[in-house]
Amino acid sequence: MRAFCYLLLIPLFISLSNASIVEETCKNISTSHPNIAYDFCVNSFESCEDSLVAADQRTLAIIASRLANSTAVKTEARIQELMEEEKNQPRRNRLDTCMEEYSNAIDELTTAAQALNVCRDGDAQTFLSAALDAASNCEDAFAEAEDASPLEEEDAEYGQLAAIALAIVAALRR
Ligand SMILES: *[C@@H]1O[C@H](CO)[C@@H](O)[C@H](O)[C@H]1NC(C)=O
Ligand SMILES: *[C@@H]1O[C@H](CO)[C@@H](O)[C@H](O)[C@H]1NC(C)=O
Repeated sequence: MRAFCYLLLIPLFISLSNASIVEETCKNISTSHPNIAYDFCVNSFESCEDSLVAADQRTLAIIASRLANSTAVKTEARIQELMEEEKNQPRRNRLDTCMEEYSNAIDELTTAAQALNVCRDGDAQTFLSAALDAASNCEDAFAEAEDASPLEEEDAEYGQLAAIALAIVAALRR
């Protein structure tokens, strides 16, 4: 997790109010987005050392994109594992759908983080919205076939992280 959220832009000075920036941001977005849990938000940022030196919301949005990305990478590896055991073709097709969704999401999150770095927040929002859909599209592939999703946990974790990144960028643009 730590390796994935490492930022190249190291702030020149450390703000003493960092804990409160994470807390305040998580409080703001969890209040306006019922699907984002405050504790999950704070704990996710605290898992990344860069959050401790993050001085602004833009940096937190980049960190959230990286955290979502690292869950997407982890989910791809999990899908690969499930594929190796799965003999049922319709189920393999559903796993394929999820693999494609997460593979696209990784590209979208990476583009979004690059856009945030150069203050193209509108573009970042577009790419994060697209990336957010990966979790629900993957879940839908199983739900539509009335098959229990083997990726429920990963989809839920990823969905929250992507929603956090998107909510922060939406707030930045206001
Ligand atoms: C949280 O919301 C308040 C009220 O809208 C706003 O003044 C403040 O800047 C926000 N803080 C952060 C870190 O988002
Ligand atoms: C997402 O993960 C991929 C593959 O590891 C990496 O190349 C990319 O830079 C990561 N993007 C972000 C935003 O962390």
